[in-house]
Order: sequence, then structure tokens, then C-alpha cells
Amino acid sequence: MQLSLQHLTKRYPGGKLGLSDFSAEIGPGVLGLLGPNGAGKSTLMRILATITRPTSGRVLADGTDIGSQPDAVRNVLGYLPQDFGVYGNLTAVEFLAYIAALKGLGGKGTRQRIETLLDEMNLATVRGNPISSFSGGMRQRIGIAQALLNDPRLLILDEPTVGLDPQERVRFRNLLAHLAGERIVILSSHIVSDIETIADEIVVMHEGRLLARGTAATLRQAAEGRTFECVVGTARLDDLKGRHIVSRVSRHNGDWQVRYLLRNGVAAEPASTPVDATLEDAYLVLTGGGAA
Ligand SMILES: Nc1ncnc2c1ncn2[C@@H]1O[C@H](COP(=O)(O)OP(=O)(O)OP(=O)(O)O)[C@@H](O)[C@H]1O
Ligand SMILES: [Mg+2]
Repeated sequence: MQLSLQHLTKRYPGGKLGLSDFSAEIGPGVLGLLGPNGAGKSTLMRILATITRPTSGRVLADGTDIGSQPDAVRNVLGYLPQDFGVYGNLTAVEFLAYIAALKGLGGKGTRQRIETLLDEMNLATVRGNPISSFSGGMRQRIGIAQALLNDPRLLILDEPTVGLDPQERVRFRNLLAHLAGERIVILSSHIVSDIETIADEIVVMHEGRLLARGTAATLRQAAEGRTFECVVGTARLDDLKGRHIVSRVSRHNGDWQVRYLLRNGVAAEPASTPVDATLEDAYLVLTGGGAA
């Protein structure tokens, strides 16, 4: 499947801009949407899932306009919304069977599929327990499982790693790598390391716009040559924060070890050491800073 996103703009009632002239071509593979709160990640995903319509612009799925023919997407879609609510009195198995029925799936194959997904999501041992007894991470995993029920060709996961512990993150990453193949997988997060390890390609979003797109390695170049570390006393710390984008501050023998990124046209602090840029550094440069 190929998605063609053409000049998508979404203006909400009240005037808030969710998305602003956003264009992209998306093919098979795992695409990560990375952006701070309010960047427009969920808005974009809801448009692709045909939950919301853009104010202007259009999306073509293999050439078909999904605005006039939403079934072009709905028939092949798996979607995990950010605010995923579940029916707490149902057990894990009952819930997945219920969602399967809503999706028009049934029969022996579906029961088998439910068991396989419970297994893959590490929920097999709690399959008969009510979802109300699940932890946040377990709920998230049942949310991912329901999105995979119909073996979707387009899988949209809004903040899927929220609440997952480090082991579950690794499991989830492996599952997605295994799933990807001919599918389009789009996931969002504001956790740089999650996106970096899970996605083949990354779109950095800010204020409804596409700021940059590339692999972690190519995006990192945005901070190459402008990432430095130095040690300063408390008196100079605020001053430094005013001049540069500070990405990390830690205690260092009573002083502060600071990692910072140069803004355009600003010189490095005296006695600074250039260091290799990370994707996190590049993300801060691209989005113009933010809290240290
Ligand atoms: N239903 C809505 N009504 C009005 N404004 C909205 C609505 N949904 C989103 N917005 C606004 O649109 C912008 C983008 O929001 P969106 O939820 O798409 O961002 P996001 O990148 O998913 O953020 P987060 O990381 O917090 O999930 C924000 O300014 C938000 O306030
Ligand atoms: Mg969101």
C-alpha cells in the first residue's frame, strides 16, 4: 500500500490548528512520528484512520481518495487510539472477541488469532482475567493486540509504548520488526529513544508541520558540529541556558556538566568539548529547544 498525503491542514472548531500543509508519501515499513505535545501527531493519525476529516488537502490510498471512499482504508486498518478505553468488566479474551465481531471477523481462525496475539503480547496467563485488574502496560498491550486482529495492511499506533516497561518495549520492537514487511506501520511518540529503536524512518513534527524526515542517522546530522559539553558553575548556568539549547545538565564536583546545542550564529562557550550528536540532540535543534 502507498499513502499520498497532500497538503493536509486541520483547523479545529475554535480556530486551533492541528495540522498545517502537511505532505508526505508513505510506503511499507515502520514510520515514526516524533514531536512534542500538540505537534499534530494524533490529528494526522486520526485523519489517516478516517476518524477525522482534514479542513483541506487529501489522502490517497493506492490512488483512492479516502475522504470520499473511507473503506479503502477502513477495510485494511488496525488502529490504536491514544486515549484507548476498554470495557473493564470483560476478560482479555472476551474483549478481543468483541472487537473481532465489530470488525466482522469470526470463526475458528479468529479464535486462533486471538490466542496467538495474547501469546505475542505476553498476556496468555491473564487471558481470563477482567481488564479492570490489568496494569497500564497490560492495557496498552491488549490495545495493540486489538489493532492487530484483522492482520491490517495499515497499522496506526498512537503512543503505543506509553506504560510499557523496558522488557515490553524490546518485545514490542521485535514484534513490529517482524510484522512490518509489506505493511505500513505508523507510530507516534515523544520519546526519542523509542522512535529511534523502533522506526525505520522518522518524521519530526512541530506545530502541525513536517520539520524533517529521514533515518535516525540522517536526522542526527542536524546537530552534527553543534553539540558541545562544558563544565560551569551555578552562576554561569542560567546565562548559558539563555544562549544555547541545553540538552542535559548533571552535577560535576560541585559544578554543572552541561550538554548544549548551538543556536544559529552563536559561538561555543570557552573550554567546551565537541561531542557526537544523538537523535535527541537533533530533535532539540529541529524543534527549537524546549525545556532542558
Ligand atoms: N478535538 C480538538 N479540538 C480542538 N483542538 C484540538 C483537538 N484535538 C487537537 N487539538 C489541537 O490541535 C493541536 C494538535 O493536537 P494533537 O493532539 O494532534 O497533537 P499531538 O502531537 O498528538 O500531541 P500529544 O503528544 O500531546 O498527544 C493542539 O494544539 C491541540 O490543542
Ligand atoms: Mg497525541
